[in-house]
Amino acid sequence: MKKIILTGDRPTGNLHLGHYVGSLKNRVELQEKHDYDEMYVFIADTQALTDNFNNPKKVRDNIIEVALDYLSVGLDPNKVTIFIQSMISPLCELTMYYMNLVTLSRLERNPTVKTEIKQKDFGNSIPVGFLNYPISQTADITAFEATIVPVGEDQLPMLEQAREIVRSFNNIYGKTLVEPEALIPDSVVCRRLPGTDGKAKMSKSLGNCIYLKDDSKTVKKKVMSMYTDPNHLKVEDPGNTKDNPVFIYLEALSTDEHFKKYLPEYKNLDELKAHYEKGGLGDVKVKNFLYEVIEDTLRPIREKRKYYEDNIDLVYDILKEGSAKALEKANSTLKKVKKAMLIDYFD
Ligand code: TRP
Repeated sequence: MKKIILTGDRPTGNLHLGHYVGSLKNRVELQEKHDYDEMYVFIADTQALTDNFNNPKKVRDNIIEVALDYLSVGLDPNKVTIFIQSMISPLCELTMYYMNLVTLSRLERNPTVKTEIKQKDFGNSIPVGFLNYPISQTADITAFEATIVPVGEDQLPMLEQAREIVRSFNNIYGKTLVEPEALIPDSVVCRRLPGTDGKAKMSKSLGNCIYLKDDSKTVKKKVMSMYTDPNHLKVEDPGNTKDNPVFIYLEALSTDEHFKKYLPEYKNLDELKAHYEKGGLGDVKVKNFLYEVIEDTLRPIREKRKYYEDNIDLVYDILKEGSAKALEKANSTLKKVKKAMLIDYFD
C-alpha cells in the first residue's frame, strides 16, 4: 500500500509556537525523511467557513498568512503538495455521499465537536454545516487516500469518525476507501503547548500566543511577562517547574546545545530544573534563556518568511499549482467512489 501523508489547518489566524511544536516541526521532519509516496498539506478554508461563514474576509486574508507560515517553517513545494480546500470541488461531492453513512447522534457525540459547540455558544442554533464538518474532514482525508494524518491530540475523535465512515462505506459499497491513521507527536509536552498566561492551550482566541511571525521585540515582551510559578516570589523560594509554562516551553524547544551557547553553568534542562526546584534561581534568568531559545527557533523562520513576502506572486503560484495537482488526485478518488456506488452512469 502507498504511504500518503495529509494534514491541514484552518485559516483563521497566523500559526504559533503551539502549532510549530505540535505539528509543523513534525511535518518538516517527515518531508525531509522522505519515507512516503505522496504528501499533502492544505489550508482548510471550507472548514474555517463552517464557523466563520459571516466573516469571509478573515478566512480570505488568512489563506496567504497560513501559506506564508507553511513556507517559512520549511515546507517545500517540490516535495509537498500545498493546496486550498475550496479549490477541490470533489470534496463537496464526497461529503454529500458520506453524509448518508453517519447519524445525527453520532455527530453530536463527537467530543471535539461537543467542546466546540459549547465554546461557540451556538445554543440551539447549531449550523448544519458546522455539525457536519467531521464528515467533510473525512472527505479531505479519503480523497487523497491518506494513510497517515499528522494532527494535534484534539483531532483524534475526527480520525476515529473518519475510520468509521471508511469502514461503513467499504462494507456497503465494496472496498474502495483507505483507512487513515493519526500521527501525534511522541513528546507529551509538544502535544499541547500551554499559553504564555499558563492556560492549558495556546490559542488565538485567548490572546496567549507567540506567533511564528512575531519580531524579536514582541517575543521578548511576551516571554518576560509570561506566567510562571505564582508561589515563587523570592529568588530563594523553591519553584515548581511542572505547571510552569516557561519550563514547558524549554522542554519542547531547548537542546543541550542551547545550554552550551547561552547558559553554560548548566549542562542541560534537568540541571536547570533541579536548581529552580531547590530554590535560588530567579525567573528572569530562566526567561532570558527561553527568549534566546525561541529566537534561535524563529530566526530562520523569519528569514524565509521575508523572502516569500517579497516574492508574494510565487506564493500564489505555489497554491495554484498545488491545487491543480490536488484536484486531479481527488477527482480520481471520486471516480472510484461513484463507480462503487453505481452512479457512474456514462463511464
Ligand atoms: N480540523 C483541523 C484543525 O482544526 C483542520 C483539518 C481539516 C484537517 N481537514 C483536515 C486536519 C484533514 C487533518 C486532516 O486544524
